[in-house]
Amino acid sequence: MADSIVIFGASGDLTSRKLVPALYQLFAKQRLPAGSRIVGVSRSHFDHQQWRDLLREATEKFAGDSFDPETWNAFSENIFYHAGDIQVVEDFQELGKFLDEMEPDSGCGRIYYLSTMPQLYEKAIQQLGAAGLADDHRGFRRVIIEKPFGTDLATAHALNDSIHEVFREDQIYRIDHYLGKETVQNIFALRFANSIFEPIWNRNFVDHVQITVAEEVVIGRRAGYYDQSGILRDMFQNHLLQLMMITAMEPPARYDSSLVRDEKVKVLHSVRRMIGGDFASNTVRGQYAGYLDEEGVPPGSETATFAILKLYCDNWRWKGVPFYLRSGKGMSCRTTQIVIQFRQVPHILFGEKTREPIGNRLVIQIQEAEGVQLHFETKVPDSEMKTRTSTLDFSFRHVAGGDALPDAYQRLLLDAILGDTSLFARSDEVELAWGIIDPIIAAWKSPAAPPLHSYQTGLWGPTQASQWMQTQNREWFDVCPVIE
Ligand code: BG6
Repeated sequence: MADSIVIFGASGDLTSRKLVPALYQLFAKQRLPAGSRIVGVSRSHFDHQQWRDLLREATEKFAGDSFDPETWNAFSENIFYHAGDIQVVEDFQELGKFLDEMEPDSGCGRIYYLSTMPQLYEKAIQQLGAAGLADDHRGFRRVIIEKPFGTDLATAHALNDSIHEVFREDQIYRIDHYLGKETVQNIFALRFANSIFEPIWNRNFVDHVQITVAEEVVIGRRAGYYDQSGILRDMFQNHLLQLMMITAMEPPARYDSSLVRDEKVKVLHSVRRMIGGDFASNTVRGQYAGYLDEEGVPPGSETATFAILKLYCDNWRWKGVPFYLRSGKGMSCRTTQIVIQFRQVPHILFGEKTREPIGNRLVIQIQEAEGVQLHFETKVPDSEMKTRTSTLDFSFRHVAGGDALPDAYQRLLLDAILGDTSLFARSDEVELAWGIIDPIIAAWKSPAAPPLHSYQTGLWGPTQASQWMQTQNREWFDVCPVIE
């Protein structure tokens, strides 16, 4: 059935940079249901052709070599534009009429993508409800909501409440684009489609887990948003906790959206809440040198652009195993990786003459060099009994003939069209995540805060971050992966 994908905030950056290029790729791969329409809505005035022309330029830029003019022409026949203001009730009634006239039959499904400023989410949902556009008696009605979902537990809870007045939970698709990354979904495959990892994926064999999302970029022109948000709201409440949930969760009975999300939520329930001195001893915060000079950053801002959180999951599988979550802007390179550091051998036979073996390590490279590496000890050839670390290396790009993996938005848009919510955050998940992050944000504004370390860009965050890890008797796995 041909559906309509209605994008609110159509003139924004996300639409041209991510959403339309992803829909174009889905169309080119013949995965978009035939005849699916894309309708852009925003306050600017364009006619259909003007909007198509703008999108063509952007898609050509982001699709690169895979852009094909003929495919674009066929795809763009189903792109439309409808001017409208989220504040104006009548504009939603007009939009409803426009969609009714354009859709070939009354059973067509509709997806409303909220790619607007987050302050408008609630209003847009109320207006959809009031105009009868959420009524799914004839065809499905779904809403996709971009991050950030609230700015703390109270606002996320209030937003959930008001969305639930209009849409049922199964109609709501809350985006965390990390879940659309192929390599994040591959964690499910690695853990639950292999028998060799599961028996050792627990406190008996794992010493600790490191989850790093390092970015080379600094905040650029986003100070207005970023200075209010900081690294904890921007990256930890969502992306880092999502990676932790998938790494730590129990196997669900089936790969089914509610069962998968039930297991993820249990991880958040098990995260030990920090109290008292924990905030200073189990967190590290930093701000890159030059942050205060960025355009729009208020003088003396204490917003952190780098953080480490040491979290524990108090459950049978993980009791006592630290999860070190780390993220920062202005780091050495762009890399997201999960390191499962296994315990040292119980008795060292070969270490005395050279060095102690470092313990096995499984490195899951989420990006940029997508793959998985297993580090293990081997004998140094043609030597006495000495060992060194060797690597079994799997690269996604290598098996894909050098091609980059599809952008996360392709998967997420397609899943929303197909009605699969597995890779979207559920209401309880979002609220629990805020419940973990909120007390840390509050503590960082109180006398319980750890010092705010300044760091030079282009490194691995503040030097104190490595020293802190040494006090844990551990080392960061600071390696910029090489893209083949
Ligand atoms: C976004 C954050 O959610 O994720 C950005 O707002 C960050 O600050 C981005 O740069 C990182 O996403 P990715 O896919 O480039 O790792």
